[in-house]
Amino acid sequence: VPHLLDVSWFTESMSSGRPVNVEPRHNLKNALEILARSAFFQESDVRYLGFTRAASTLKALPYKLQSVNQAKDLPWCGGHCMIVIQEILEHGMCREVEVIKNNEHYQTMELLTGIYGVGVRTAQRWFKEGIRNLSDLKTMECKLTAEQVSGLRHCKDLQQQVTLEEAERVGQLVKDTLQRFVPDVHITMTGGFRRGKEVGHDVDFLITHPNENALSGLLEDAVGWLETQGLLLYHHLKKRKPALRSASSSMDSHETCYAIVALPSSSSPWNTDIEVKKCNSEDAERIAHPESPNSLNSRTWKAVRVDLVVTPQAEHAYALLGWTGSKHFERELRRYSLREKKLSLNSHGLYDLEKSCFLPAQTEEEIFLHLGLQYLPPSDRNA
Ligand code: TTP
Ligand code: MN
Ligand code: MN
Ligand code: MN
Repeated sequence: VPHLLDVSWFTESMSSGRPVNVEPRHNLKNALEILARSAFFQESDVRYLGFTRAASTLKALPYKLQSVNQAKDLPWCGGHCMIVIQEILEHGMCREVEVIKNNEHYQTMELLTGIYGVGVRTAQRWFKEGIRNLSDLKTMECKLTAEQVSGLRHCKDLQQQVTLEEAERVGQLVKDTLQRFVPDVHITMTGGFRRGKEVGHDVDFLITHPNENALSGLLEDAVGWLETQGLLLYHHLKKRKPALRSASSSMDSHETCYAIVALPSSSSPWNTDIEVKKCNSEDAERIAHPESPNSLNSRTWKAVRVDLVVTPQAEHAYALLGWTGSKHFERELRRYSLREKKLSLNSHGLYDLEKSCFLPAQTEEEIFLHLGLQYLPPSDRNA
């Protein structure tokens, strides 16, 4: 099992025999990720996938890449990627990447797609309409979806990374909220934090219970309660669509709540034992109206993106595997299952296309067994 180490890359040229100490230091993985995102912004899936795979390969290398020769036999690092790697190793930078970084389209797309609720298609359309920055966007707020309005309103907070300590406090808040309605509810933190990352862009949770009836209406109840506490800045509830649990669907149809919560800061009075109900009306007011001027200097909360996913026990292992990520790991795992094993994997189950049946699993280990793969713990899924 390879160890997926995060290596920081140095731009030392072995071929020229002297280190290139150009500042700022250029990072091979970053360069390939910039090329991947640039392809993504142009909706070029093939190039996006190629650069993503190459970046992922470099990320997983347990040693520092120092010469083009070392890179020659690495998977996905041929052709275009090899030229980029060579240029960076020899000159400390890659001209193509520098051009992209300074490109107005790329910069605007980075900015716009960084807003919660804004995808590539939307950003592309806005770019064509002449939108270049956030103030341009604010002038057309009436045309935005509720999700985008919240994303824009809280973009400063949401662009800051969520720390592990904050994620744990979100976890406590989620637990206290859900346990008010179902005392023995099972909650697992998934996503990047389950993979051992110390920061994230949101906090993901999987919610289940042996008795499926206990789960019905739970998210509505939780949302309602958080709202009365003034802790919910935005939410979108997606109902479960059982029909989608079909053989080939890669669509996720779990009941899900995409939310932005106002996480009380650790020094704030409520946080001591998450007795959120103790919060006084003045604090609640401040949270309910984050833009009000008198709250600007005395903010006691931070907007944090939270995903809550509810699954019946029978699908829990599959949902856990699916929501632990990384996205690239999931994509490659599903591709492998289908191509090599004729098994269709999604976050609801595993379907055997030859035997026309679902393969049940209670644990992630059992799923890896079905797939004929060695078990990989979450910390080895940071592809
Ligand atoms: P993310 O929360 O987007 O990513 P992450 O937790 O790995 O990293 P970050 O720190 O940026 O938050 O998604 C987590 C996993 O959930 C990812 O593997 C894909 C999966 N997922 C679904 O299965 N369905 C969905 O609709 C979404 C949004 C994510
Ligand atoms: Mn996440
Ligand atoms: Mn992310
Ligand atoms: Mn998420």
